[in-house]
Amino acid sequence: MYKSPSPLPETTRARLVETLNARLADGLDLHSQIKVAHWNIKGPQFASLHPLFETFAVSLAAHNDAIAERAVTLGGKAYGTVRHVAGASKLPEYPQETSRDLEHVRLLADRIEVYLAGLRESRAAAEELRDTDSVDLLTGIITEFEKHAWFLQASLGLGPFGGMGGLAQPTPAARGLVGLRPGGFAETVGCPPTPGQGGRWG
Ligand SMILES: [Fe+2]
Repeated sequence: MYKSPSPLPETTRARLVETLNARLADGLDLHSQIKVAHWNIKGPQFASLHPLFETFAVSLAAHNDAIAERAVTLGGKAYGTVRHVAGASKLPEYPQETSRDLEHVRLLADRIEVYLAGLRESRAAAEELRDTDSVDLLTGIITEFEKHAWFLQASLGLGPFGGMGGLAQPTPAARGLVGLRPGGFAETVGCPPTPGQGGRWG
């Protein structure tokens, strides 16, 4: 660990640097996946979703930079090569053959859920370690990405209780990573089964 302007003890700073680097890996991975969606999307929603995905990527690039620089400010290093990220990210790989517009929306919604789960985990760690500045940084990112997630969920036509059509079911990989059971987001808030889904919760 390097010398830091932070008054936090070195052991505390080391734990913060570790969790910030985990979020940096997720964020860099998510950025590359958003760009893949931005480039390959096709379909009736192209005109609105192509630029929307770019706004997500631009904001995420700035957040990744802020997280990396917070880790270095705390006396650590920031790890962000493609090879490092490939091994460290919690996100599932993106199916790059995807072209259909709403399928990209569903895939990105799943991955943003995973990204948000990691951010909340790191924020809880920063709260425990009494680093209010890292808490603030992470809260800002969470707030923005919850909004992005809302845009995507609204594009998928989520019902008033979070019930979704078949397109919006999280992939098995994303479900496992964020602890969702079959049926997706709705189960986490205890919603009734969506009509037309054969009694499944969804
Ligand atoms: Fe572009």
